[in-house]
Amino acid sequence: MIKRYAVILIDVLLLFSSIIYNIIKGIYKLCIPDAEKSVLGEVVLITGTGHGIGRELALKYASLGATVVCWDINEQGNNETVEEIKQNGVSRAYGYKCDVSNREEVIETAEKVKKEVGDVTILINNAGIMPSYHFVDHTPELIKRVFDINVLSHHWAFLPNMIQNDYGHIVSISSMAGLFGLPNIVPYCSSKFAVRGLMEALCEELRVQNGGKPSNIKFTTIYPYMVNTGLCKKPLYRFQSMQLISIKEAVDAIIKAQRRNIREVSIPSYWFYINSFMRCMPHSCREHTSNFLKIGVDVED
Ligand SMILES: NC(=O)c1ccc[n+]([C@@H]2O[C@H](COP(=O)([O-])OP(=O)(O)OC[C@H]3O[C@@H](n4cnc5c(N)ncnc54)[C@H](O)[C@@H]3O)[C@@H](O)[C@H]2O)c1
Ligand SMILES: *[C@@H]1O[C@H](CO)[C@@H](O)[C@H](O)[C@H]1NC(C)=O
Repeated sequence: MIKRYAVILIDVLLLFSSIIYNIIKGIYKLCIPDAEKSVLGEVVLITGTGHGIGRELALKYASLGATVVCWDINEQGNNETVEEIKQNGVSRAYGYKCDVSNREEVIETAEKVKKEVGDVTILINNAGIMPSYHFVDHTPELIKRVFDINVLSHHWAFLPNMIQNDYGHIVSISSMAGLFGLPNIVPYCSSKFAVRGLMEALCEELRVQNGGKPSNIKFTTIYPYMVNTGLCKKPLYRFQSMQLISIKEAVDAIIKAQRRNIREVSIPSYWFYINSFMRCMPHSCREHTSNFLKIGVDVED
C-alpha cells in the first residue's frame, strides 16, 4: 500500500520536474530555434501544385535541392509548374495528374511515384477548396467534396512507407479557419478543424507506439491567414494592415516551420497565441473582438 503511494508520489515529482524542464527548454527554443534542416535529396510530394501556395512551395523546394513531385487535378497548371522548375535549371521535378479526393487514383498514382521517383520523404497536403456560401445553401454533395479534398485525401498512401522506413515528415495546410469558426465557410472551417485533429491525433498515436518518445516521423500543421491566391474570392477585413498576406510570405513560413520540425504554426505567428488566449476568456469577448476586426469571407456570387 505505502509502496504504491510512494511510486505515485515519485511519478508526480518526475512529471512536474520534466514539465518545468520542458518549459525552460521551450522558452530557450523560442529565442534560439533549431537550425533549419537540409532538404537536399529529400523527395517532397506536394498536392495542389497547379496554382497558388502549392506551386510556390514546389518552386522553392526545388531551389533548395529537393526532388519535387507535383500533384494536381489541373494538369495544365501542374505542367506549367514543372516546366518552370525545369527552366530554373532543376531536373528533378515530376508532375502527375491526380484527383486527391479519389482514393483509387491516389493509390495508383502513389505506386507510380514509388516506381518512377522513389520513396516520398516529405508529404505536403496542400490541395484544398473553399466554397463560400451560407451553410444552408451548400448542397450535401459539395460539403462531402470539401471533406474529401481537404481532409480525407490526407496521408494514407504514404504513411505506411514512412512508418516502415521510420523516417518522414507530413505537413498539412490547415487555415486560420481551423482555429476560429467563421461565417459563410462552415464546411471549410469544419474541414480545417478536422485537419488539426487528424494531425494531432496521428502524431500522438505514433508517439505512443514509439514507447512514449516522439516518433521519427515529424508532423507540421500550418494555419495561414488569408493569402493572396484567389482562393478567397471575397475577403473581408476592416484594417488595411490586415490585408491578405503574400504567397511568398506564406511559403517561406511553411518551409521554415517544416525545416525546424515545428508542430504547429500560424501565419502570421501571433494568431496562434491570440486564439489560445481568447479561448480562455468568456465567449462574448471573442464576439466583441470579431465585431471590431470584421475579418472573414463574404458569400461568393
Ligand atoms: N489562400 C488562402 O487564403 C488560404 C488561407 C489559409 C489556408 N489556405 C489553404 O492553402 C491550401 C492552398 O490554397 P491556395 O490558396 O494555394 O489555393 P489555390 O486554389 O490557389 O490552389 C489550390 C490547388 O489545388 C488544386 N486542387 C483542387 N482540388 C484538387 C483535387 N481534388 N485534387 C488535386 N488537386 C486539387 C487546384 O487545382 C489548385 O491548383 C488550401 O488547402 C487552402 O485551404 C489557403
Ligand atoms: C502535361 O504534360 C504531360 C507530360 O509531359 C503530357 O503528356 C500532357 O499532355 C500535358 N497536359 C497538358 C494539359 O498540357
